[in-house]
Amino acid sequence: MRLLGGLHYLVLGGEASWDQLDVALERHAQFLRRWCAEQEVQTNEVQRAWALLPAFLSLDDGRPFDLLELGPSAGLNLLWDRYAYRYSSGTWGSGELELSGDDRMPPPSELLSRSVEVARRRGVDLSPIDVTTADGARMLQAFVWPDQTARLERLQRAIEVARRDPPELIRGDYVAALPALLRDRVEGAQLVVFQTASTMYLDRPGAERLRAALHEAGGHEPLVFVTTGRAPDDDGFALEVERFPGGRPERVAVFDFHGAWLDWGR
Ligand SMILES: C[S@@+](CC[C@H](N)C(=O)[O-])C[C@H]1O[C@@H](n2cnc3c(N)ncnc32)[C@H](O)[C@@H]1O
Repeated sequence: MRLLGGLHYLVLGGEASWDQLDVALERHAQFLRRWCAEQEVQTNEVQRAWALLPAFLSLDDGRPFDLLELGPSAGLNLLWDRYAYRYSSGTWGSGELELSGDDRMPPPSELLSRSVEVARRRGVDLSPIDVTTADGARMLQAFVWPDQTARLERLQRAIEVARRDPPELIRGDYVAALPALLRDRVEGAQLVVFQTASTMYLDRPGAERLRAALHEAGGHEPLVFVTTGRAPDDDGFALEVERFPGGRPERVAVFDFHGAWLDWGR
């Protein structure tokens, strides 16, 4: 995957061609060797926001949201309220990027009638991607395969949205950073911590420290954690909502790993 990402990065920059791979491999051998050794696969799947939206709307209690995303990559899903959404039960929001998919079990239309306000959006990632730079955008595009044209187009539109007003991205390990981040609150707002496809990379002590930080902070002042977990039969992600204090996970949906389909309420 790293090698293909490196080749795609070169093709996107006009430095190589898929039609002459042998030439590219030879000419850029040094670059590709270093890329494969050093460059982690970096993706940010904005289609996951299509599965997340009903969960966020279900949290609405009239207060604005104070969003904190763990492992946001480029933070495109931190901008979920700036996209338009289509489900078979209705639509939500507006914007030049419209997200839709196969909602085999659609969210209730009542949820889609709710509106929300976002007071703050922060994300903390080991290697955040800054898509306001040409290189950041190219890096993210490089790890979406070139025949996935709809995915690439979605990404491009989300990048344009992010460039107008990017979210705050903090470089760091969220396990270590979480206690301090959770103490920093926007007064009068509801703190919503969320993550997709990230905590699955934590080892057991890391996962336990993360939960301890949520319990500790939620014991002082309530917060909500929206998270992807293991789905039945490992077919897609379970989407879970946990309210702290307490912290018992409630499964609200199951969705495809990349957000292609959604079973709301399963
Ligand atoms: C597969 S990507 C998912 C990105 C994004 N959440 C999405 O759904 O598109 C996982 C992200 O989690 C970040 N990550 C993994 N472990 C982390 C940690 N302990 N602290 C901060 N970021 C972490 C990685 O750097 C990467 O950007």
